[in-house]
Amino acid sequence: MNMMNEAKWWQTAVIYQIYPRSFADGNGDGIGDFAGIISKLDYLKALGIGAVWLSSHYPSPQVDYGYDISDYRGVAPEYGTLDQFKEFLEQAHRRDIRVILDMVLNHTSDKHPWFVESRSSLDNPKRDWYIWKKGRGNQPPNDWYSTFGGRAWELDPTTGEYYYHYFFKEQPDLNWNNPEVRQAMWSAVRFWLDMGVDGFRLDAVGTIFEEPSWASHGQPYTSEDLYCIERLAKTDQEKQDALCKWETVFHNQYDQPGVHELMQELRSIVDGYKDRVLIGETDDISYYGHGDDELHMVFNFPLMRVNHLTPHHVLTNQQGRLSQIPVGGWPCNTFGNHDTSRSYSHFGDGVHDAALARQQLVLLLALKGTPVLYNGEEIGMTDYLIRAPSLFRDPLNTYGYRLEMEVLGSSPEQAVWYSAERGRDKCRTPLQWDHTANGGFCPADITPWLPVNPNYAEGVNVADQEKDPGSLLNFYRQAVNVRQQTPALLYGNYTLLETENSDVLAFLRETQEQSVLAVFNFSERRQAVKLSQVGKFSHVLFSTSQPGGDRVTASCLSLQPYEACLILLD
Ligand code: GLC
Repeated sequence: MNMMNEAKWWQTAVIYQIYPRSFADGNGDGIGDFAGIISKLDYLKALGIGAVWLSSHYPSPQVDYGYDISDYRGVAPEYGTLDQFKEFLEQAHRRDIRVILDMVLNHTSDKHPWFVESRSSLDNPKRDWYIWKKGRGNQPPNDWYSTFGGRAWELDPTTGEYYYHYFFKEQPDLNWNNPEVRQAMWSAVRFWLDMGVDGFRLDAVGTIFEEPSWASHGQPYTSEDLYCIERLAKTDQEKQDALCKWETVFHNQYDQPGVHELMQELRSIVDGYKDRVLIGETDDISYYGHGDDELHMVFNFPLMRVNHLTPHHVLTNQQGRLSQIPVGGWPCNTFGNHDTSRSYSHFGDGVHDAALARQQLVLLLALKGTPVLYNGEEIGMTDYLIRAPSLFRDPLNTYGYRLEMEVLGSSPEQAVWYSAERGRDKCRTPLQWDHTANGGFCPADITPWLPVNPNYAEGVNVADQEKDPGSLLNFYRQAVNVRQQTPALLYGNYTLLETENSDVLAFLRETQEQSVLAVFNFSERRQAVKLSQVGKFSHVLFSTSQPGGDRVTASCLSLQPYEACLILLD
């Protein structure tokens, strides 16, 4: 098969996630917007990315910062107008940058007109668009919890019934068993596809359906218990146990019957348009369906959900997943997003952070599958732990703070630190564009919606790094460029190589025309590794340590600490 002709744009592009509230502020009000995004499209082009995944941009009360949508066909007024969105789409396309929108199917905002109607009376025509149940005496309909804390049920005084919400109470779940809901949501999907957007990242797909008999989970833990158990877990075993407890409590609330048929329905809509893509916010391989009838990609979250990357972790992850993805499905790898720690902080060890960030990027670009970057990682933005609860914006920060103070008995200092560490504000702070006040995100006399990480003044900003040939930003540009020029990295097969050195990972990416060896030293010491594939005609394509183009003369490679090296085999 000649992949070169058959590869789709979403298989070869590097995707870049924009968190619109924090990316670029065009009108100087302290909140990111479309004017800002449009002004940075050339920056994205220079980075070599081929597609943007835009986190939710829809009108929203912003309880969950856009993931509580009140209008599926609009633009949040603080981000701009629909015309500005269209301008953004056109300008991106003009630069060969595709646009993937977020699509939240599981729930709407409680301020969405559908829900306002639904809650207004028992016989409102939209009553059945959401999930309403009678309580058991004074108790909610069953013992389920919200994954964001507290009961999954909210009593609505107007009708005396409860509605179900898997996330915050301001995010009531839609009833996807109602055909009118499907029709209304698919019509919103078509609205954007007709406009020319290139696909969707599907939010929380696993949570769309619930166990049909609403059976009790029967566990003795409350959601607060689960928070505390996880927060106090220290060893890997304790963390694993905490996760198992969470799963036994929540197992009736995700990956339930009906969801695959629904994904097939959506896929058939999307397939009616040319060249569009669906990426699921799930790591469950079953969402690939038969390879061509559900989602084009799901995220390889297990790759990033470890504290330290090791060769063993990467190779077992790859072996497990690549063998399971059905023919037609395509892998998708990432090291961070708007819900997780920033990769620079998460995988850094405090000493070799700069080297680790470079190594990781090369790994991400060399693995088989589409790489997804999170805005700011290209300049090494780090988690920023907000020190005053009054500045918290994510309700999960605030929830954590309350539990720290009221349940765990933490001191106020500890409570702020832990809740900032566990909440999501830390990875959502504004993009650092230069070393002027507020990192150049907004004017000096404006308070940005979340504080800017002060390390913008220490070189963690775009302007300073653009001037420095050795910066992380320029490293990103070079590495992405090498990947985009190297067919074997774009769509070659993946073969693991045995290195007999537990600190070294090596694999091949091969097309019929080209073979690239990717080799990584995960240790702080030099490592020598023998690989019979490396012959005297090989040369270094790209490396974190050696200039490209060097001939490799022996099959024994010497790798610098934390080196990542791509070698072209002749
Ligand atoms: C997804 C989003 C997250 C949001 C949640 C509820 O996990 O990534 O930010 O809070 O869904 O929509």
